[in-house]
Amino acid sequence: MWPPHRRCRWLSPYHAFQILATAFLLLSQCNSGALAKQQCRLNVHNQHVLDHDPNIPDGASLPKPNATTSGVAPTQTANSTGILNAPFNYGRDTIRGVNLGGWFVLEPWITPSIFEDTGNDAIIDEYTFGQLQDRNVALKALTNHWETWITEDDFAAMKAAGLNHVRIPVGYWSVPLTSADTKFNTSASPYIPGAWPYLLKALNWARAHGIHTILDLHGARGSQNGYDNSGQRTQNPQWALNPDNVAHTLDILRYIAKNIGGMLDVIELLNEPGGFMPPVAAVMRDFWMNGYNAVREAAGPNVKIMIGDAFMGVMNWQNFLTYPQGQGVLMDFHEYQIFSGLELDRDWTEHINFACTLIPTLTSFASANIWTVIGEWSNAPTDCAKWLNGRGIGARWDGSFRPDPSDTRVFGTCGNMTGSGSGFSQPYKAFLRKYFEVQVEIGDNIQGWIFWTWKAENADEWSYQKGLENGWIPQDPTDRMYPDLCS
Ligand SMILES: *[C@@H]1O[C@H](CO)[C@@H](O)[C@H](O)[C@H]1NC(C)=O
Ligand SMILES: *[C@@H]1O[C@H](CO)[C@@H](O)[C@H](O)[C@H]1NC(C)=O
Ligand SMILES: *[C@@H]1O[C@H](CO)[C@@H](O)[C@H](O)[C@H]1NC(C)=O
Ligand SMILES: *[C@@H]1O[C@H](CO)[C@@H](O)[C@H](O)[C@H]1NC(C)=O
Repeated sequence: MWPPHRRCRWLSPYHAFQILATAFLLLSQCNSGALAKQQCRLNVHNQHVLDHDPNIPDGASLPKPNATTSGVAPTQTANSTGILNAPFNYGRDTIRGVNLGGWFVLEPWITPSIFEDTGNDAIIDEYTFGQLQDRNVALKALTNHWETWITEDDFAAMKAAGLNHVRIPVGYWSVPLTSADTKFNTSASPYIPGAWPYLLKALNWARAHGIHTILDLHGARGSQNGYDNSGQRTQNPQWALNPDNVAHTLDILRYIAKNIGGMLDVIELLNEPGGFMPPVAAVMRDFWMNGYNAVREAAGPNVKIMIGDAFMGVMNWQNFLTYPQGQGVLMDFHEYQIFSGLELDRDWTEHINFACTLIPTLTSFASANIWTVIGEWSNAPTDCAKWLNGRGIGARWDGSFRPDPSDTRVFGTCGNMTGSGSGFSQPYKAFLRKYFEVQVEIGDNIQGWIFWTWKAENADEWSYQKGLENGWIPQDPTDRMYPDLCS
């Protein structure tokens, strides 16, 4: 049995193929044994020598204010009064942001109540949410969620918390393509469309409160990784297997760029493509390149474009879309230390120290290539949050989920590691503060950081909002209780 699990190495039918595919040396290393993806990234780093782009100043220091590694001027965005918000100076100023997880792409662990309310255990993601219940019932629940999960007050609270960016995950099914926009089927059934107007509302709130926006295409047709957070939890993600899906995704990006490119600071072409699967790895370079061109053609030079490392390590993307081949491009790197026994085995000090080990790789990549952001990370040191690994699936931490049957370790109990912060011990809360600060330190060494996630119903270790309330996230994110953790 290979239950899919979130943001983690996937055991899939491709596994056998990978072993034979010596051309995918790095991939097979990343898929063997218990190596975690962060380890893979470090391995990748060790195998590559940095090449310097002659157009880019020597990478010893971070980009200068006027000569950024991505070679563009800051974007101007007008707020709701039509007045220009101060442009964000990418490359000079640090992105400090939160993700709006679980809003336009449901995740069972972020809003378990929405799934429990269906009374149907087979509803495990947004796809089955539309497929396995009455569509009017589903639409009503979704509409209520779109209207209430995030409101304008949240944008005011983000601003008050010293944040300057929000990253908004969106599924392709929410993008209202018409037959004039694509030659492909415009129905996304069984997904339920309807979130688009709420997205537009959010962009206006962001603008009104001086928050810059990253629209993140989080789910593509067929699923790019098989995780529930792509919309569809499946052992057989189809996105890369059918060229029509990839072409359809480009139409989605073109539509976004053309219709709302002027309201956005950044368009992220696709979240977490599963590059550990050879068919996905095989299409990624072309997809990033074609996506870049599609967005530039439709939206012009101002909007920034974000790509991701696709779990292949940032060092796999050297000299890719660097200036002048690309301009205004950012790399998105995600860091979690909880989706394997190897990582869970680290004690708190080791989690902090491990975070520090990421800095040299990321800074050298960023200074020699493109702006780089740690676009997802959290405070969680365990996978205890209910349904984090998927609805109905337990946790590796307490042994209730054993994706690798030979790993029978139990690391602890889950009761006091997740849920309401009121149940967290003082030492745990002190750790959460320190862990927050060290990961911010990673982001401060590159072009910034975006926490996953702003809100969760009942997993406070993942919630920026609850961290602020409980004090393990500072009211001003530049405050340090533990300065220079990595020095
Ligand atoms: C950027 O700064 C360098 C030196 O710091 C200066 O020589 C150059 O003219 C500046 N370029 C622009 C476009 O301002
Ligand atoms: C729009 O931006 C301008 C310039 O930063 C600012 O003075 C004004 O208050 C903003 N309007 C709103 C509604 O926030
Ligand atoms: C488009 O997709 C929907 C949902 O999958 C399907 O019901 C419909 O038959 C398709 N239409 C065409 C013309 O293929
Ligand atoms: C959680 O509870 C277990 C069992 O009582 C205890 O050993 C552990 O120290 C607690 N952990 C935290 C972080 O409070």
